[in-house]
Amino acid sequence: MRAAIVTLFGALLSTAHAAGVTGTAFGFASGTTGGGSASAATPSSLAELKEWITDDVARVIMIDREWNFIGTEGTTSSQCCSSTSTTVCAGGTSKGQAWIQDTCDDGTWVSCTYDNAAKTPLSVGSNKSIVGVGSKGVLKGKGLRVMSGNSNVIIQNIHITDLNPQYVWGGDAITLDSTDKIWIDHNKISLIGRQMIVSGWGKAGHVTISNNEFDGVTTWSAGCNSKHYWTLLLLGAEDWYTFEGNWVHDVSGRAPHMGTDYDSSKIYFHAVNNYFQNIGGHAFDLDVNTWVLIEGNYFEEVDTPMTPGSLTSGANIYSTSTVDAASGCLASLGYICEWNRESGTGSWPDLTDKAVLTQFSSLKHYLVGHTGVANVPSNVTAHAGIGKL
Ligand SMILES: *[C@@H]1O[C@H](CO)[C@@H](O)[C@H](O)[C@H]1NC(C)=O
Ligand SMILES: *[C@@H]1O[C@H](CO)[C@@H](O)[C@H](O)[C@H]1NC(C)=O
Repeated sequence: MRAAIVTLFGALLSTAHAAGVTGTAFGFASGTTGGGSASAATPSSLAELKEWITDDVARVIMIDREWNFIGTEGTTSSQCCSSTSTTVCAGGTSKGQAWIQDTCDDGTWVSCTYDNAAKTPLSVGSNKSIVGVGSKGVLKGKGLRVMSGNSNVIIQNIHITDLNPQYVWGGDAITLDSTDKIWIDHNKISLIGRQMIVSGWGKAGHVTISNNEFDGVTTWSAGCNSKHYWTLLLLGAEDWYTFEGNWVHDVSGRAPHMGTDYDSSKIYFHAVNNYFQNIGGHAFDLDVNTWVLIEGNYFEEVDTPMTPGSLTSGANIYSTSTVDAASGCLASLGYICEWNRESGTGSWPDLTDKAVLTQFSSLKHYLVGHTGVANVPSNVTAHAGIGKL
């Protein structure tokens, strides 16, 4: 009896402790504290949730339910562009996505109705932790953006979903534009109109994207193949990303796309121990002004793990699948890189651009370690997404 009471008390205590962020930001977002020591609080209405996310008070905001924004800002009935490649989908396995836009040069106008709330994300203030409780934290029909110099934000253990998935430009899940210190951890993103994560044109700064599930399963696919095309589009002015332990599955493009010659952008990206699975299109699509270290990732049933264009775009890429390439990291980084592994996947180039190691040698303290690539599929599917903390 006494043991039972002690156990119960222990369980209550640990539940109380869990109200707030789990773990500490690592990698490039090291030092991100979000709402810090502010006491965790649970909003009781949609209005309160919006106020707490957008104001300039440091807060730890617990998301203990599904907050449904659909219908809260009305709908728009208009004309959308149906193009033969993305909407008609002759012979495809899914419906397509029509475009919410003002021109329709390559298609025909169709009538469409979309929800307004998803088109404008909530603008997150500085010093915020937005944290899901168990597997209950859902933002339905609205995404988040951090912009205008706001910084120090943690988004953990929430599911962002249902942003006009029928329509391109229907809504982005997470937007970073003129910010710094962002930790996006253990979230799930599904059924989005446009990008799951997008940055630019202002800087995204120091960002860690860890242990998230990017779930592209959809009925409306720009590639007509039941997989979401618009995964990660990174175009910030000066960005450092740690991309670790993510499960990117059933998407068909931009997973990720990064790089631009706009405004002397510079993007540094460390992809480590991610599981890319069932990609009916491309994973990495790398453009100019990028320095990308890709190690310990598992590609399974990925049509095009890296686009041919990445090899001629001017992107600087170090990716390892041979002993020589892995060992080549040692002198600059102080460790042997982990191999990338492929199964049922298009060819994966071994790229050993020393410029990447030179850049990362001065950023060494931000590099997270890696685990053996063989365990990545089981380990990542067990830990990535919501309700897994
Ligand atoms: C965020 O926290 C930092 C460090 O405590 C502080 O300097 C800054 O003023 C805070 N920002 C806002 C908008 O409260
Ligand atoms: C699983 O991943 C975690 C990090 O997310 C790591 O600490 C652990 O060592 C990994 N386990 C295996 C067996 O690779």
